[in-house]
Amino acid sequence: MFRVVVLASGRGSNLEALIRARAAGLLPINLVAVFSDRAKAGALEIARAAGITAQFVNPRDFDSREAFDQAMFAAVDGHAPDLIVLAGFMRILSPSVVALRAGRMINIHPSLLPKYPGLHTHQRALDAGDVEHGASVHYVIPDLDAGPILAQTRIPIVPGDSPESLAARLLPKEHALLVSVVADLAAQAART
Ligand code: GAR
Repeated sequence: MFRVVVLASGRGSNLEALIRARAAGLLPINLVAVFSDRAKAGALEIARAAGITAQFVNPRDFDSREAFDQAMFAAVDGHAPDLIVLAGFMRILSPSVVALRAGRMINIHPSLLPKYPGLHTHQRALDAGDVEHGASVHYVIPDLDAGPILAQTRIPIVPGDSPESLAARLLPKEHALLVSVVADLAAQAART
């Protein structure tokens, strides 16, 4: 079965969407582990409640970004993942760990890339006067939020929208997008 490791820094609703889809029989994957750089990440709680190995790796235990990345990815590799999913993982990764996992690591980002890499994407879409907004799932490359796009989802921006209303409307679409991309990648792997 297609082995997936999730990295998440926060709430964990995208992780939860994967867990729910798997439980519903819609996602033939083995969610083998969840890692976080934040001890209090909701994602760790969600993983533990689902019986998935959950590990906090404390950035403060390391002298440099590279040292943290090397240690965390050594642990990730211990689970032999076919796919690594960054689901709200808010740290920039060092180029060496990314390059070694080219084509095996994806990220969900709340904008219609290549628009708005980085932070505050909802506010930036509003400030630009955009009429639509969305989310992208892309392969991770060393440049931030810049790898080949696998799929996107779109929502209209309507009068009166705020960053909060956009985020709330986009989130369920993000969940569906991520589940669908992971399902596609698992199906592709099953065919080869
Ligand atoms: C999601 O909106 C995701 O697109 C975003 O963080 C949120 C995580 O929510 N990711 C990024 O901004 C990455 N640059 P979650 O913890 O509930 O899944």
